[in-house]
Amino acid sequence: MEPNAKEQTLVLIKPDALKNSLTGYIMSQLSEFHTGLRYAAAKIVSVSTMLAEEHYAEHKGKVFYPPLIDYITGKIHYANEPEKRRVKAFVFQGPNAISVIRSISGPTNPHEAREQKPGCIRSLGTVVPIKDANGNVVEYRMDNLIHASANLADAEREIKLWFRPSDIPPFMRNFPVVTCNKFYFYKEGRLLKDFEEGALNIVAPGDIVWQTDIEALQKLVNGEESTTSLHGVAAKYLVNK
Ligand code: GTP
Ligand code: MG
Repeated sequence: MEPNAKEQTLVLIKPDALKNSLTGYIMSQLSEFHTGLRYAAAKIVSVSTMLAEEHYAEHKGKVFYPPLIDYITGKIHYANEPEKRRVKAFVFQGPNAISVIRSISGPTNPHEAREQKPGCIRSLGTVVPIKDANGNVVEYRMDNLIHASANLADAEREIKLWFRPSDIPPFMRNFPVVTCNKFYFYKEGRLLKDFEEGALNIVAPGDIVWQTDIEALQKLVNGEESTTSLHGVAAKYLVNK
């Protein structure tokens, strides 16, 4: 079967890559010259706990989950420099975008990456022991420099989680969008139709939004179940606010 020339994947350059000044190196590994892929979107994101928890929702409850959230929000690598906490987020597009970037990234665990695929991006990462209150090692944190979507379903969920449609040129948007005709606000875990003091606007009439976001907001505002949670919708509209 012909590869889909429009296939997209989410890439995150994580805080350890920024701290170690590896962004330029990683971006050159992902360049069109090496991968045949093009940029569909790019932004610098101050990663909220909300966004981090949604991104890594599948790992909630695991021992490495709290350190993973601290890692991706930048609290580990910029403990005393909150102004430097950020990741670089990209959408890449092109034939086999997902497998091409996963392959250049390499195995999740940097030690395995070095063993199995010397030269891959994650072979430059590190593994850090996580200790309990008594100093015993209970887990490891994998500082692996880059995130890349694992499959088509993850890529769609992750691109819609990190990017608004207006972050992506119209001719490069792969998922249906609609024009919003209502106001929606967010305050302390609640979805509001009307503004309250301290609330933040998520979307407004005239905004171009992912169709799945509007479907979720309509259900949630009526108190119905939605497969996409409020935070799953809101996080990207609150990025850098
Ligand atoms: P990402 O691109 O970051 O999503 O990595 P991945 O797709 O290779 O792995 P996965 O989505 O399964 O896990 C997300 C992140 O959780 C990884 O990058 C690791 O930092 C961490 N992680 C995943 N599995 C383990 C594990 O078994 N032990 C530990 N300590 N960390 C893990
Ligand atoms: Mg993953």
